Amino acid sequence: MVKSIVVCVIILLFLVGFGKIRETKLRTEEHDASLKKLYAKDFYIGAAVNDGVILGKNTQALQILKKEFNTISPENVMKWQEIHPSPNSFNFEMADKYVALGKKNNMHIVGHTLLWHSQIGSWMNSVKDSAVMANYIKEHITTVAERYKGKIDSWDVVNEALNEDGALRESVFLKVMGERYLEYAFKIAEKADPSAELYYNDYNMWKPKKREGAIQLIENLQKNGVKIHGVGMQGHWGLTEPSLEEVETSIIAYSKLGIKVAITELDITVLPNPWELEGAEISQNFENSDEMNPYPDVLPDSVEVQLANRYRDIFKLFLKHSDKIDRVTFWGVNDKSSWLNNWPIKKRTNYPLLFDRDYKTKKAYHVVTGLKTN
Ligand code: XIL
Repeated sequence: MVKSIVVCVIILLFLVGFGKIRETKLRTEEHDASLKKLYAKDFYIGAAVNDGVILGKNTQALQILKKEFNTISPENVMKWQEIHPSPNSFNFEMADKYVALGKKNNMHIVGHTLLWHSQIGSWMNSVKDSAVMANYIKEHITTVAERYKGKIDSWDVVNEALNEDGALRESVFLKVMGERYLEYAFKIAEKADPSAELYYNDYNMWKPKKREGAIQLIENLQKNGVKIHGVGMQGHWGLTEPSLEEVETSIIAYSKLGIKVAITELDITVLPNPWELEGAEISQNFENSDEMNPYPDVLPDSVEVQLANRYRDIFKLFLKHSDKIDRVTFWGVNDKSSWLNNWPIKKRTNYPLLFDRDYKTKKAYHVVTGLKTN
């Protein structure tokens, strides 16, 4: 009797041990995959980084970043408000650390962004004189781009200058300086760092009317001899919108302008959309409710599968056009730190990226890596 109990216990321990070895092996296999390695011949793969990653406090996110990505974008630290908080003061502390992180890890370093109506120095909103505004813009772009000369590989020079209908957005820059502010910003950026690639970046760049507006904007710059190397399609998308056809038409159309295409801020929301909101206008905010926050604890398997399928379709399309696409950057490292937990409704639980709240790979990750291994 005692003997058979002992035998049973030994068998049990053996089985448990075997299970552990198998589990460890599976984890090691998972650990071996790397987005940047798998996609090395296709395009850069990146993530936007926040303070926790830049300062190295979020060690798990940093680990993922180093293993999976070969390009970084600054989620906030290079925005005007952060880097140039008042007319006579610049604060480069975090931006310097951001650039150092990219250099240390041999990454393609993106600068985001030199001119944008949001997160701008507050005094800029009350400038009324065209020459005064031109001077502020010149000083800002020159100071920032010169500081990182030869270090930033690619600048988002102008962000979100277009309306949904393709007309120019009535930003403070347009109101005070007129259309010439666009050309002006690109020329100053080029002078400040002639080696950096210069991009125009915006959301909803797949929409037909906005696409027409973007093409016109870019063609105008080109006609006037202004250097522009690429166009950024932000990529704040949903599970069903935009259609792959619209995205594809845009990638092809932009590429025909003789410039590179980058997907600069990719994330796929799985949450309900208030008032059928499209795009990423960051000033829009709505009330939270149970209905608007349906997965506060866990993402149902069916939605996780839907998300994975969506990522598969999108990456298949990107691969089809890898000759036109230079970079695909996710807006964040993992679900926990995604801005979509707080936009357009505060304090929701969203699941838009390839890594979950515990820094583990999601189904979507395996589908995206699987496209290159299967
Ligand atoms: C977002 C950041 O992720 C948030 O942390 C911040 O509060 C608001 O801005 N389009 C852009 C990005 O170009 O800079 C925005 O980033 C998201 C929309």
